[in-house]
Amino acid sequence: MEQRLEGKVALVTGASSGIGRSIAVRLCREGAAVGMNHLSDTDKGGAEEAVREVTDSGGRAVAIRGDVSKEDDAKRMVWEVVEEFGRIDVLVNNAGIENERPFLEMALEDWEKVLSVNLTGAFLMSREALRVMTGHGGGTVINVSSVHERIPWPNFAHYAATKGGLKMLTETLALEFAKRGVRVNAVAPGAIATPINKEKLDDPAKRAEVEKLVPWGRWGEPEEVAACVAFLASDEASYVTGATLFVDGGMALYPGFEAGGG
Ligand code: BGC
Repeated sequence: MEQRLEGKVALVTGASSGIGRSIAVRLCREGAAVGMNHLSDTDKGGAEEAVREVTDSGGRAVAIRGDVSKEDDAKRMVWEVVEEFGRIDVLVNNAGIENERPFLEMALEDWEKVLSVNLTGAFLMSREALRVMTGHGGGTVINVSSVHERIPWPNFAHYAATKGGLKMLTETLALEFAKRGVRVNAVAPGAIATPINKEKLDDPAKRAEVEKLVPWGRWGEPEEVAACVAFLASDEASYVTGATLFVDGGMALYPGFEAGGG
């Protein structure tokens, strides 16, 4: 594989499964040394397996435990990567959660939990990583948003609100750090075949219902998101900042409105 990230150091949050794990492995395969974050003992195995997968073939990676929504953890995780690999060039804010809650049944606790991981987590991790990056001349931040930064999602108001928030966080930081050598971008995945969507993937009817919403006609693979993140992380994207790259088979184009319908 092309070594576009040779010499770079990355930290990927939520790297124990799904899109995050795929991104972490891809960055490593392209030559980066990668801190692979996981939350707790429960998801430790996934991150350790990913670390083993890449170190076995000569890559450099380390598992980093911590909760992105906790200020102390966020700081410590960034500094663990700096201690291990000397710097930090790429931060991927991937950690995210979702749960279905009709709005009138949404407890404050549900709302706060999703906001704290998906949005506050990206804030805390970015602030600490940007302190390091600006201290050594620059770097890049990539937020993993969603098609739901654009498409409203009934029963997931908290989740959609975090993704809309991530869009403005991405654009605002892109502007605020443009003069300090830091590019800030996002990817917006659509329906990707990962554990977060297990219930829909396991049920043929639900699976097909989602496919109808995707012009490309199929679910995406985590590697297809990872490839886009690797590009944004690399110097090939040296003039790209404040952008959101939709990786969704056209889903955000509102296929329901095809041919004047809707
Ligand atoms: C969600 C998935 C969903 C997809 C398309 C993503 O942000 O995590 O659960 O299938 O959007 O609706």
